[in-house]
Amino acid sequence: MLQASLVFLSLFSLVLAGPHVTRDLRLHESRDSVPNGFTRNGPAPGDTPLPLRLALKQNNIEGLQDVLMDISTPTSANYGQHLSLEEVNEYVAPKPETIAAVNAWLSENGLAAKTLSPTGDWLGFQTTVARAYELFDADFSTFTHDVTGETTVRTLAYSIPASLQGHLDLVHPTITFPNPLASKEPVSVTPGRLRASSSNVTGAAAPASCNTAITPACVQALYGIPTTPATQSSNTLAVSGFINQFANEADLTQFLSTYLPDVGPSTTFTLQTLDGGSNPQSQSQAGLEADLDVQYTIGIATGVSTFFMSVGPSSQDGLSGFLDLVNFLLGQNSPPQVLTTSYGQNENTVSRSLATSLCNAYMQLGARGTSILFASGDGGTEGFQVPGSCSPGQPFVPTFPSGCPFLTSVGATENVNPEIAASFSSGGFSNYFGTPIYQTVAKSAYVAKLGSTHLGRYNPAGRGFPDVAALGTDVKIVYQGAVTSVYGTSCSSPIFASVVALLNDRLAAVGRPPLGFLNPFLYSTGAEALNAIVSGSNVACGGTGFPATAGWNPVTGLGTPNFSKLLAAVGL
Ligand SMILES: *[C@@H]1O[C@H](CO)[C@@H](O)[C@H](O)[C@H]1NC(C)=O
Ligand SMILES: *[C@@H]1O[C@H](CO)[C@@H](O)[C@H](O)[C@H]1NC(C)=O
Repeated sequence: MLQASLVFLSLFSLVLAGPHVTRDLRLHESRDSVPNGFTRNGPAPGDTPLPLRLALKQNNIEGLQDVLMDISTPTSANYGQHLSLEEVNEYVAPKPETIAAVNAWLSENGLAAKTLSPTGDWLGFQTTVARAYELFDADFSTFTHDVTGETTVRTLAYSIPASLQGHLDLVHPTITFPNPLASKEPVSVTPGRLRASSSNVTGAAAPASCNTAITPACVQALYGIPTTPATQSSNTLAVSGFINQFANEADLTQFLSTYLPDVGPSTTFTLQTLDGGSNPQSQSQAGLEADLDVQYTIGIATGVSTFFMSVGPSSQDGLSGFLDLVNFLLGQNSPPQVLTTSYGQNENTVSRSLATSLCNAYMQLGARGTSILFASGDGGTEGFQVPGSCSPGQPFVPTFPSGCPFLTSVGATENVNPEIAASFSSGGFSNYFGTPIYQTVAKSAYVAKLGSTHLGRYNPAGRGFPDVAALGTDVKIVYQGAVTSVYGTSCSSPIFASVVALLNDRLAAVGRPPLGFLNPFLYSTGAEALNAIVSGSNVACGGTGFPATAGWNPVTGLGTPNFSKLLAAVGL
């Protein structure tokens, strides 16, 4: 429904003079340099097709933020009173003068735009590189990604007409670069990984074998997750799928019969597609990430209706698929109560305006009552950097969207007794988003403990991530017909999401609303229901990054779930 399949009205511009003569363009966004890992080849040919999107200024996003915090804070009288589609739209719809200014500009330039979001705050139109130069002073070039060899068309700066200042938040894709590396390897197969010790000490409840291989039974035992199926049909969980990662039903069936014989082997997901998405079922097309994500949601959130959201090829360039998915869900009358996503990219590849705009879209979905979980990344303090390409001593690289304060970022642990921080678990501090109120105390305490460690390499005033963690090392899945071991925060996000879905099931059973945006709860009454992870640290370019210490830390957040304590914390 949201494709940018637009008709470009190729009217001649009446002004054929140089692009700077009659138009009053003002620099809107720029980046100082080409992001690490990309090389500029040269100018992109003028006739290269370019689908562009415009983000229109929303009328009262600050007001919505206040409402979100109010309805997500357990002590508030309005806790759990999530907003309807119409109520959110009242805050988000652009003002009439904004719509008028943008429409006037579109028609002056002979452009036909299509609405890409429920309230019309995103518009899209089809143009070319040459035309984009005239419209936005944008000098589009071709860039090659050094590792994958993939090419992309981007500009290092663009301007907008003076008449649109204050009405237009951004134009995309312009200075935001895609991250083909993260796309290619969302999760890695453990390369014959040998554990340091084959200790026979285990967690109180987890079998000894869990120190070397994590199965659903290990996850259930370690976190006390019930194996009895959920009962409420209204309760749903959605799994994001991008970049041709297809969830394979035969792999899921084999996984369930191998590890969860009590769950019917025919238990499966409901497919939803957008942007031309699909979910072909040949064994060779099964995706490691997609298989992992559906196996550890359907397997752990037993009985919860699970949707696999396959976002298709028409939006694979950069973050357009993220935008389309969140806008697709925002357009639903009953969006899923939980959304888990194991994709992301380095914050510094994303324009500040686009990061803010996407983050605000997650704010809207949170206000609708959806708990949004994202994997924090697998490069320690270096985000999604190419292993070995980092420079020791350089500033750390936070990931996106984990730095967005309106979602829950999930880091990874390993081992069961003691459960410790996984060294690959990405964590740190956003350079774009400030500290949210709910995190101020926990984060200041950690920064104070750090003292002079890593000073100058991170932004102590930024939103810290991740918020929570779950097991993410030596996790067993079935992939293309065979048991495979994987690791990554990609394992952790579906596991934590499943815990939230099972809590929502219990809440629904007694007529209570779902948990919605989790963080104000997690950082207050929820904190003591989490197992603090107090040993290990993440890596920093071969060295030691942030240590995991008691309280919140930027490796494992507030810790891993204890289901019975969480039930008590939500008042059940
Ligand atoms: C395993 O358990 C035995 C007996 O309980 C103990 O002697 C041994 O030290 C343990 N091994 C490790 C690696 O902890
Ligand atoms: C959860 O916490 C309770 C209370 O401290 C504890 O008794 C229980 O063993 C914990 N559950 C698990 C699975 O660790």
